[in-house]
Amino acid sequence: MYNSRISGLGFYVPENVVTNDDLSKVMDTNDEWIQERTGIKERRHVVQGTDTTTTMGVKAAEKAIERAGIDKDDIDFIVFATLSPDYYFPGPGVLVQRDLGLKTVGALDVRNQCSGFVYGISVADQYIKSGMYKNVLVIGSELHSHGLDMTTRGRGVSVIFGDGAGAAVLTREEDTSKGILSTHLHSEGQHAEELSLVAPGMGKRWVTDIIEDADPEDTSYYPHMNGQFVFKNAVVRFSEVIMEGLGKNNLAPTDIDMLIPHQANLRISQFIQKKFGLKDDQVFNNIMKYGNTTAASIPIALTEAWESGKIKEGDVVVLAAFGSGFTWGSVVIRW
Ligand code: UT7
Repeated sequence: MYNSRISGLGFYVPENVVTNDDLSKVMDTNDEWIQERTGIKERRHVVQGTDTTTTMGVKAAEKAIERAGIDKDDIDFIVFATLSPDYYFPGPGVLVQRDLGLKTVGALDVRNQCSGFVYGISVADQYIKSGMYKNVLVIGSELHSHGLDMTTRGRGVSVIFGDGAGAAVLTREEDTSKGILSTHLHSEGQHAEELSLVAPGMGKRWVTDIIEDADPEDTSYYPHMNGQFVFKNAVVRFSEVIMEGLGKNNLAPTDIDMLIPHQANLRISQFIQKKFGLKDDQVFNNIMKYGNTTAASIPIALTEAWESGKIKEGDVVVLAAFGSGFTWGSVVIRW
């Protein structure tokens, strides 16, 4: 019997900072509204022609591999979570295998949006627990900015999302009281369209329609979100799945040393913090700086929390996510 543990972490964000005031120059929005509703002060946007979802993921991965103290050839498998792949297919997993110059290891793409990293960790953990692999690279990376409606029409979505990547190396751990204790995954496809991007998709319409119609009012290429509905579901599902993870390990909310919630909205994190009676130093938030980076948000936050010494050996660390699908999940770790 093995466990897996996180042996290395890394993140990368593009240099280009976009403030709320910058956004108010291209759409009808303002710093006060954005901060009050979401907590976001600024986010990063890739400058066209520089990074891609894959290159950001590779930069985060290089750091994680170095910190894991292994050689890249020790990586047995790649899991890549994103909703903004470079290509519709193939997914970025194989591009990482190529760009990192890895052996012909398997590469799996995860399509679970905000929960993508949690799903990815769960997959990697199972491969390691089963004894199949020893070191699995899990990446969450997003390039939102090139696909957002940067006009007033899209303001309810576009002010929220940012670009960036985070990565973790999961390594075999022989002490089963340490590392990843359990993972918990859920979905409810009934609400698939409430937070979605319906084009490009094979199910919607013929390609000829798209080219010939070329409708400037067509918003199907932009993400759509029913914000209030998503918010209401998020607070319920976050709470449930954190409790599910704690219960499975006979832990109580007071046992949490560090909760890393998916950075969807500062108000959601604050709601969860209050509900569980957690102190400020028990919950990590960095949405103020990066916005919502979807699959990248947890690994970026986890790396920053770890880098700043907020996670110590023996700590109970809980990761929790909710998002498009709907999908949600949690990971309980003894660091
Ligand atoms: O990561 C995946 C999971 N995602 C989430 O969990 C997100 C959950 N939802 C949310 O975080 C919030 O619903 C939002 C931040 C997206 C929106 O906040 P809200 O308090 O739910 O605002 P709203 O959508 O109800 O809009 C309120 C008003 C509307 O105007 P009227 O109809 O009251 O006149 C909007 O048109 O705010 C307007 N509005 C804006 N105003 C200025 C919407 N976006 C903006 C904007 N700037 N960017």
